[in-house]
Amino acid sequence: MSNRPDLPPEIARRRTFAIISHPDAGKTTLTEKFLLFGGAIQMAGQVRAKGEARRTRSDFMKLEQDRGISVSASAMSFDFRQYRFNLVDTPGHSDFSEDTYRTLTAVDAAIMVIDGAKGVESQTRKLFEVCRLRDLPILTFCNKMDRESRDTFEIIDEIQENLAIDVAPASWPIGMGRDFLGCYDILHDRLELMDRADRNRVAESIKISGLDDPKLAEYVPPAQLEKLREELEMARELLPAFDRQSFLEGHMTPIWFGSAINSFGVKELMDGIGEYGPEPQIQKSAERGVAPEETKVTGFVFKVQANMDPKHRDRVAFVRLASGHFERGMKLLHVRSGKPMAVSNPVLFLAADRELAEEAWAGDIIGIPNHGQLRIGDALTEGEKLRFTGIPSFAPELLQSVRATDPMKGKHLEKALMQFAEEGAAKVFKPSIGSGFIVGVVGALQFDVLASRIEIEYGIPVRFESSQFTSARWVLGPKDTVEKLANANKQHISTDHDGDIVFLTRLQWDIDRVVRDYPGVTLSATKEMM
Ligand code: G4P
Repeated sequence: MSNRPDLPPEIARRRTFAIISHPDAGKTTLTEKFLLFGGAIQMAGQVRAKGEARRTRSDFMKLEQDRGISVSASAMSFDFRQYRFNLVDTPGHSDFSEDTYRTLTAVDAAIMVIDGAKGVESQTRKLFEVCRLRDLPILTFCNKMDRESRDTFEIIDEIQENLAIDVAPASWPIGMGRDFLGCYDILHDRLELMDRADRNRVAESIKISGLDDPKLAEYVPPAQLEKLREELEMARELLPAFDRQSFLEGHMTPIWFGSAINSFGVKELMDGIGEYGPEPQIQKSAERGVAPEETKVTGFVFKVQANMDPKHRDRVAFVRLASGHFERGMKLLHVRSGKPMAVSNPVLFLAADRELAEEAWAGDIIGIPNHGQLRIGDALTEGEKLRFTGIPSFAPELLQSVRATDPMKGKHLEKALMQFAEEGAAKVFKPSIGSGFIVGVVGALQFDVLASRIEIEYGIPVRFESSQFTSARWVLGPKDTVEKLANANKQHISTDHDGDIVFLTRLQWDIDRVVRDYPGVTLSATKEMM
């Protein structure tokens, strides 16, 4: 079913989405089951690392390392029924980062996973707010119903109140914890029973003709059946019915209950994404909205990942195709530099393996190996000078200075830092006075991640130290005024990796002063990356 019957079928069958959740809610387990049902892996759950250590990098990498499955970081594609799913990874660590925000600019929908015992947790709320800024449609999966969970109405109420969104039950749990039997599929009048004997198997669904069907009593014990009937009646009175339009506009989320580890509820959720969508959406550019069915190929870089293969210093730019039908070898215009670029070895992240992409359609994510020409926010087109918008760069909230413990390695450190800045892993500022660097991040954990990556990937042990600055602002305005400001405030001035001027300070007072003294100049906490 598509909202857009006019779309070419190859585009209409694509679903590009991300999973948002609080750590431990079950995102990795759910991803793994998606891959299992998408035919990409044969067996789920081989080896698992524990705790924060496994969350410092991409969850997909974690899957790859821990479980010996061949997946490539950041994006994965697989087929399920008639649909092509493109699942884009959101970084797993608990510090909110720009990376996450940018990932969400590349998808058309998100699945929100919550733990049935914990409800809406802090990280879920933050990520939800980001989705809301973009009016992304959200499907909710309430996980771990095989454990003692909260009352179903309580969970739904909490989501409605906490996130201010209508919640429509797509399924309804029968029992919980040890007594969890399965769910009643409200949208299709089916009974779905959980198979506890085999975690990777899904029991068959049983077609039921409504709640009065005597067949129900064959499967559900009397006390649970009575409770189910009561609850569903109440739900019909108190909760809104699923409305596809309202879902697509981001005002309503359908909720499925299940147990990812038992593979239960996962197929229903996948069917939900397939059936209700959305298909690839119009992407915004400064010039116009770009529709997926346009015949000319366009796309934008939303992520750059360096050193995916430690033996080769390659970088892969992840491109979301916004329109058209891409074929390998195509020459595209790299809009920022104005130069043509032959895309001869693009990678499609088919979950079974990383493969050369012979073709791809609007909605797909392709990886383009390159030596640093492609940056976050860059547009590729067949000639039109488009600038895709909405990929912001935030002012970091934490600043530290960094130095190599071996001073001989200073030059190499600069190279490593620039690379991470281009990847979007951190902000790097070169102060106009002195020789060091200031690194800015959004969450404290990122300093640890960076230190370990610089050591592992470049062999440079580094030390982060507190810096005299606490705020960074991009200086925007007429060129001559900006120059005047920079000359008069040298001790505050630095440049970022693009060469743009950034004002560093520890006092709000300084910011207010500059704004007052230099009319026409703004000190901005974000910069659009394009
Ligand atoms: P995350 O990526 O969102 O952080 O969560 P992840 O899938 O890693 O799951 C977190 C923990 O919750 C894991 O346990 C996982 O096995 C468990 N889990 C996931 N889905 C379910 C479910 O449906 N029911 C139950 N009962 N547990 C679930 P762990 O202790 O960290 O690892 P392990 O001991 O299972 O290896």
